[in-house]
Amino acid sequence: MSLSINSTIKVYWQHVKRYPLAISFLLLVLVAINILNLVPALLNKQFFDAFTTGQTGQALASTLIGVLVWIVGVNLGLWLLQRLADVTNNYIQPRVIVDLEQTAFEHLLNHSYRFFTDNFAGSLVKKIHRFGRAFERIMDQVTWKLVQIFVSIVGTIVIFYLRSPLFAGILCIWVFLFAVVNFIVAKWKLKYDLIRAELDTESGGKLADAIGNAMTIQQFVGKKFEAARFWEVNARWRKMVTFTWNLGSVNDGVQAGFMFVLQGVAMYVAINLYVQGKMTLGDFALIQTALVALFMRLYDFGRVIRDLYDGFADAKEMVDILEMPYELVDKKGAKKLQVKKGEINFKKVSFGYSNGRMILHDMTLDIKPREKVAFIGPSGAGKSTVIKLLMRFFDVTKGSITIDGQDISKVTQESLRSLVSLVPQDSLLFHRTVMENIRYGRREASDKEVIAASKKAHCHEFISELSHGYDTKVGERGVKLSGGERQRVAIARAILKNAPILVLDEATSSLDSESESLIQDALHELMKSKTVIVIAHRLSTIMQMDRIVVIEKGAVVDAGTHEELIQHEGTYKKLWSIQAGGFLP
Ligand SMILES: Nc1ncnc2c1ncn2[C@@H]1O[C@H](COP(=O)(O)OP(=O)(O)OP(=O)(O)O)[C@@H](O)[C@H]1O
Ligand SMILES: [Mg+2]
Repeated sequence: MSLSINSTIKVYWQHVKRYPLAISFLLLVLVAINILNLVPALLNKQFFDAFTTGQTGQALASTLIGVLVWIVGVNLGLWLLQRLADVTNNYIQPRVIVDLEQTAFEHLLNHSYRFFTDNFAGSLVKKIHRFGRAFERIMDQVTWKLVQIFVSIVGTIVIFYLRSPLFAGILCIWVFLFAVVNFIVAKWKLKYDLIRAELDTESGGKLADAIGNAMTIQQFVGKKFEAARFWEVNARWRKMVTFTWNLGSVNDGVQAGFMFVLQGVAMYVAINLYVQGKMTLGDFALIQTALVALFMRLYDFGRVIRDLYDGFADAKEMVDILEMPYELVDKKGAKKLQVKKGEINFKKVSFGYSNGRMILHDMTLDIKPREKVAFIGPSGAGKSTVIKLLMRFFDVTKGSITIDGQDISKVTQESLRSLVSLVPQDSLLFHRTVMENIRYGRREASDKEVIAASKKAHCHEFISELSHGYDTKVGERGVKLSGGERQRVAIARAILKNAPILVLDEATSSLDSESESLIQDALHELMKSKTVIVIAHRLSTIMQMDRIVVIEKGAVVDAGTHEELIQHEGTYKKLWSIQAGGFLP
């Protein structure tokens, strides 16, 4: 477990050290504060020793007032330094929190498709936020508690040593035992803190999953069921939290015991030394004040350790993600993809999402420059999977995919994806305006260009009727639009992108025949001079293509033009006869 703390500290430190001046200044001020904090104990000694010097009247008064002036001076200094520390801390912390969350976010976005199918959006959101907040928690403890504790322990030992090495020895042994006990308890407790953090995440994930499916819950009257699921995970969280908090309380109790013992032993030894004439009244005051000050620092040490470990447990999940290697990375020295002709070759491609089950088996397919190809085949045959491989959302298990002779696993992912336009099976939109959603295809496009694209995709008509036109927000994932409208927005986005290779995964499936035929026009226009792959079930779409490729069980089983394919029995002919009904000759 210590390993995960190390990596968390490493990540935090990388971000903190971006502010070297501020952090050094803060450290300096903190050390100064804590050294200055030791002075009152010494002044107390002088104060009390003054009574035993035999001075009386005016002389005594002026000595005492002299000490008093010092005490006031020291406190004034402390007050000033404390403000300085506050301001510096206020400068550093928010900056580092924002930097950390930014790093986490940017890192997440580089993870691959599989990462996002394996992780709940809700959990990830929670993890990113917790990562930043955990820093605040940890840094607060370090700045306001740990540095203080450290300096005051060292300072007290030094002061004691100057007065009596015996006292210093007693204090050293005590500090050692105190630290060991705390360390062991904290280490043992960490695994429960980690479970607590995981339960936090699980609860967040369940919430997001349920709220995201609120309509399904209502539709299937699932409220009680969902409430019970949420209750169940929270009940586990409650048990774990109660347990770890109780552990903390036990630890607090043990620490309080430690303090009684030290206090008792110290005073006992002091009395003996005093009787032997080896100590002054002032020394008594010194020891007492110094111990009280030390205990004040240590009294919530258990809570400090608890907060620290809570912080580390909270940060760990995000640190794990930061340390997780990306599934897909650009090869060293990867070049940009160059598309001049738009020829695509699948060579003996095999692929499975997980090790066990293969989805594609030795699939070979050559798509000529600017050819328009339709993929057809039964549901689950692997059509969308082929597209995901072409976009390199996954790497092929065996074989290769090349575009104009360049292996797609050897070019940069960015260049590949900017030259292939995909309208996916289920287009999801950002909760932003329609304008922003379409412009996402080419973010430097002007409003005019966006509107031109949406006219081509036949969305201009419905967008103009929305309450705020192009400035209407479409709801989370585009829920405020109909399925067909969402598809047309996605098509407009692809039109705007205008990449040389176009892939449509059943992009017209949610459209009624009339809108579809309108879009067919637009697509026809769009497809000119591009290599196109269309996954479609509708004959009207399919028949416009140069070639039809039949995919079954992850392999190409048939290919040809419409005329060729209806010449023999097979999947295509079956599909044709079902859809064309009785009109077949
Ligand atoms: N992310 C994934 N992880 C694991 N298995 C997956 C994943 N996506 C798809 N599959 C599996 O791969 C197989 C092929 O899926 P694919 O989406 O390619 O089918 P399809 O031919 O596009 O079907 P449809 O016509 O219904 O869209 C399916 O059996 C599916 O269960
Ligand atoms: Mg599909």
